[in-house]
Amino acid sequence: MSRKYTTILGIESSCDDTSAAILCGNKIMANCVATQQIHQKYGGVVPELASRAHQEQIVPIIKEALSDAKIELKDIDAIAFTRGPGLMGSLVVGVSFAKALSLAIKKPLVDVNHMKAHVLAHFIETEGTKPPGFPFLCLTVSGGHTQIVEVQSSDIMTIIGKTIDDAAGEAFDKAAKMIGIDYPGGPELDKIAEEGNPEKFSFAKPRIKDLDFSFSGLKTSILYKIRDLSKQDSDFAQKNKADLCASIRKSIVDILIEKLLKASKDTGIKTLAIAGGVSANRELRRRLRMLEKEGYEVYIPKFEYCTDNAAMVAIAGKFAFERGEFAAQNVSADPRLKW
Ligand code: KG4
Ligand code: ZN
Repeated sequence: MSRKYTTILGIESSCDDTSAAILCGNKIMANCVATQQIHQKYGGVVPELASRAHQEQIVPIIKEALSDAKIELKDIDAIAFTRGPGLMGSLVVGVSFAKALSLAIKKPLVDVNHMKAHVLAHFIETEGTKPPGFPFLCLTVSGGHTQIVEVQSSDIMTIIGKTIDDAAGEAFDKAAKMIGIDYPGGPELDKIAEEGNPEKFSFAKPRIKDLDFSFSGLKTSILYKIRDLSKQDSDFAQKNKADLCASIRKSIVDILIEKLLKASKDTGIKTLAIAGGVSANRELRRRLRMLEKEGYEVYIPKFEYCTDNAAMVAIAGKFAFERGEFAAQNVSADPRLKW
């Protein structure tokens, strides 16, 4: 491998995905993700089980990434890891491993904010695409967060809108559960929705001012509709699964797009991006693409960089490395890490 470029090992362990990636320059040489299946039968992430699974998977996943990238530990210039936000027990595994590895191979440590990393995933070099120019707006939508970020540079980002209750991913997962789809239901609901009629059912729309979001009213509205219609036919949800999925998906995506457009109007920024697990949603991606015809510049990440992954941690780490920002050996995981 060419030594012209900075090589970063990225480590992600904030929730229920253990991931390691190798970045060389702005190119990803390996991005390995071990998704924990254990949580499915409990209907949500069980923190204790997540940290145990991270401990089991962290060494194999790093070995796999090094092997995929065809490099050795000595070729790495720095180790970037997710410091937070996330689950304490999960974060601790990645943070402790990164610190121990840094001592062993005598390479610097770079701490990364998971939510900033989701935004910076847009700067991973991908064939046929270019990164967004600054400033841009990034709708960052995951299982734990829903926010509109005004991105001035790789370091200066301001949250200009956020959810006041559930996150968009949480809304997808909870709605999916109501129609009998296993956790995490978001991706499956999205798949089933492709076959359904999005106009079949309508739900209460939130009335939240400014750029903030709310999904709890929508959740209640979905619950009541399913409950009421199931009184006449106990098989209602099963029989109308595709139409329910399509209608729920449309309602959530409508809320997201409406606020993103308001943010664009308020700030005058017409370069729009999406990031985080929910940016894998097909309808959200289509609706964003449609905005190109209206004069917006649109950036949508590759599927593998939407949900949690270490490639985004590595690119965020590279920016910090170039700014000369390193973590000390006494750095600790921070589940509520602020911007
Ligand atoms: O960013 P992420 O992988 O983890 C967090 O940091 O939370 O996001 C996970 C969330 C889950 O709620 C999952 O259901 C949702 O993203 N998600 C989707 C889709 N793919 C993942 N939601 C809707 N449609 C999808 N295709
Ligand atoms: Zn995430």
